[in-house]
Amino acid sequence: MGDRPGRDAAPVTVLSLQQKKARGERIAALTAYDHPTARLLDAAGIDVLLVGDSLAMVVLGHDTTLPVTMDEMLHHARAVARGSKRALLVGDMPFLSYQADAAEAVRNAGHFLQAGMHAVKLEGGREYAPTVRALVRAGIPVMGHVGLLPQSVRRLGGFRPQARTAESARAVLDDALALEAEGAFAVVLESVPEKVAAAITERLQVPTIGIGAGPGTDGQVLVVHDLLGLTDSVPRFVRQYARLGEDIVKAASAFRDDVESGRFPQSKHAPAMSEEEWGAFLAALGPQPARRPGR
Ligand code: KIV
Repeated sequence: MGDRPGRDAAPVTVLSLQQKKARGERIAALTAYDHPTARLLDAAGIDVLLVGDSLAMVVLGHDTTLPVTMDEMLHHARAVARGSKRALLVGDMPFLSYQADAAEAVRNAGHFLQAGMHAVKLEGGREYAPTVRALVRAGIPVMGHVGLLPQSVRRLGGFRPQARTAESARAVLDDALALEAEGAFAVVLESVPEKVAAAITERLQVPTIGIGAGPGTDGQVLVVHDLLGLTDSVPRFVRQYARLGEDIVKAASAFRDDVESGRFPQSKHAPAMSEEEWGAFLAALGPQPARRPGR
């Protein structure tokens, strides 16, 4: 296991991520949606915590990321911000928070920064170049996201791998370059062939963060519930590092058994009372009333 950064390790910034790329060091990113998870992932030295709109699916139980709202995202962003000290925190712009116009995008992204995020992420390529420009001009760091765009699932007809033809690979590269040109500080490459991801990584100055895009990117991001084994099924590109779902079912069943059999709780699980106070209490109660039948 690698060394974890110490308690006083310098906070991760958009600049330090770019320096990592320049030094050939890899970036580890995970999603986080709540305070305890943010605290634990921060302690593990994860560089980037993304409050992803995958919240809609893995936490709120929707089939796609489309239903999650700005208010829901902000609620979770605040909790993550309270749990993290070192990681760079990125708020994922949910569907309809930036698509309509750049001014609305700036306002919504600003709310993420007010909620304690350090940057925002948005899905889309060249068509969002003016939006990225407006955000960067407003002082808001932007992480791009190209390749598979889960918010376009209805147009794509499913969560399908992208950039598998020469033409579509070129289009994804051009999208990534356009976002970089407008000032994006990093770009997520989702579900594209590893050769394409590596070629884009070589051509970009800013770090690429891959998900389902092979080992040739500057960093990797996974949905934390997938990695921890908290979801029913995981995409093929995920490595599960724990099976916490099974542990939770075991722990909850053991609790249920203990409650049903009377093994839990025991006397030590309630506050103590002196015999003197107990006697005074009984005396104040007076004689015990007869129990009503059936009780
Ligand atoms: O919402 C999300 O979790 C993402 C990923 C890149 C993992 O956008």
